Amino acid sequence: MLPTHESQPDTSASGTASANIAWHGSQVAAVDRFRLLRQEPATVWLTGLSGAGKSTVAFAVERRLLSLGQAAYVLDGDNVRHGLNRDLGFSHRDRTENIRRIAELARLFNDAGLMVVAAFISPYRQDRAMAREIVGTARFIETHLCADIGVCERRDPKGLYKKARTGAIADFTGVSAPYEAPEAPELRIDTGRITVEDSVAAIVAALAPRFLAG
Ligand code: ADX
Repeated sequence: MLPTHESQPDTSASGTASANIAWHGSQVAAVDRFRLLRQEPATVWLTGLSGAGKSTVAFAVERRLLSLGQAAYVLDGDNVRHGLNRDLGFSHRDRTENIRRIAELARLFNDAGLMVVAAFISPYRQDRAMAREIVGTARFIETHLCADIGVCERRDPKGLYKKARTGAIADFTGVSAPYEAPEAPELRIDTGRITVEDSVAAIVAALAPRFLAG
């Protein structure tokens, strides 16, 4: 059984803005929730440039996990920015806050027993390290979808690279804002060369030994 975050989170590093708050423990253990759902939760964290296929692969992984009898849920950059993170833009500071909130959400979903597939550019190494810390490294499968910028820009599914090149979008990752590639991710998939099905198979194979039954 992997470690869980049932106990009070360590907020000593970041602190909390509120005084006079107390942590209330659950009356059931996380492992009881995992047993009920018959699964060992993990967070597959997809990072890569816009157009690398993060959302496509994430939703395909979710569907495959459900077909395997696993309760899974996708947290996707564009989608989360429509709701929870609608107050955030694309400055370095806002991206860090975006990733912090998502990582806290992934941790809660994992604690509830759900498999999480998170699809965020998450361009900064330090922010991904923070996400790993929040989720817990034992459950964190950092997956770099490493299609190169040429491939992503040729695909340009939302027409954003075109706008970024003309200056119509500022701070666009890969064009006018940095992308720091992971140095030692659990998984690296070149989505410029590998099909969606094969990408899904690689992720499921990485999950299988520790997180998927039988
Ligand atoms: S992150 O950098 O904070 O991790 P996130 O994954 O949530 O980014 O959102 C990325 C999505 O926002 C892109 O797929 C794209 O559709 C859109 N977007 C809009 N402006 C930008 C920008 N300046 N840089 C990158 N993506 C942008």
